[in-house]
Amino acid sequence: MSHQHHATLNGTEVSDVRIPLVGLGTWPLTGADCTKAVSQALESGYRHIDTAQNYANEDAVGQAIRESGLGRDEVFLTTKFNKESHGGESAVRQAAERALDRMGLDHLDLFLVHWPNPDQGLYVETCNSLAELVGTGLIRAWGVSNFKPGHLHKILSAGLVPPINQVQVDPLHAQRDHERANTEAGVVTAAYSPLGRGGELLQSAELSEPAERLGRTPAQIALRWHVQQNRIVLPRSANTDRQRQNLDVFDFELTKADMERIDSMDTGKGARLDADTFGH
Ligand code: A2P
Repeated sequence: MSHQHHATLNGTEVSDVRIPLVGLGTWPLTGADCTKAVSQALESGYRHIDTAQNYANEDAVGQAIRESGLGRDEVFLTTKFNKESHGGESAVRQAAERALDRMGLDHLDLFLVHWPNPDQGLYVETCNSLAELVGTGLIRAWGVSNFKPGHLHKILSAGLVPPINQVQVDPLHAQRDHERANTEAGVVTAAYSPLGRGGELLQSAELSEPAERLGRTPAQIALRWHVQQNRIVLPRSANTDRQRQNLDVFDFELTKADMERIDSMDTGKGARLDADTFGH
């Protein structure tokens, strides 16, 4: 089954947590729409859901998981916390407890620093506090999001290896410097907006030609390009058919030429939001 393709997370305070390569992105769904989208996804075989405090939908995601009939250990759940909770252990622990409260659940699989917020100057301490939370039963693994190579190197210098760094990646924004920095440090890359937010990317010949040849959709080709490089993807859709398509990317393969052609689409442009100046 497609949802049984995993990456293994390793890093400070984490040993061998397995994460499904395809997860459902949930921003900007909220309320009943979000619960419905997550419930549908779980029914279709998704076993990995990605949310954040800032999406204001942790309650809706928690409800779908609670009502799914699945065991808690069958679903991999990620959330992320905001800058107000950066700092020492009690601040970060409280962020986890509050997220769990909103979800009505008893533990998180992965808890991420959502943005480094370098102006606040607390992300190294925050990562240290977060790593310490692993093993308390509140979270199984920790990680970061939107960390540029400079931010990553700063925490690595403090002896903190995040098992995962979730950043914006799609064929037009391949972010090779991020991927290289992550890989060199043994950090798994997860891609948000892996479909380029459903824009012009999905109309390109680089995707539609292999799609036609393989009897797939351009979105499946884009997602296959990611997972064939062992990158976790978090495509968002509220539509059942598209959710199913996005999970069904493990029984075909792109050729080296297909991969290189998609690689050549990279504009070299950075992420839409710059983590040195943007954050919450
Ligand atoms: P929809 O929710 O109507 O399916 P990203 O994950 O890169 O941010 O992209 C999300 C956008 O891509 C949404 O607008 C979503 O629309 C669209 N999308 C998701 N999956 C597919 C797909 N398989 N084919 C076409 N568009 C998709």
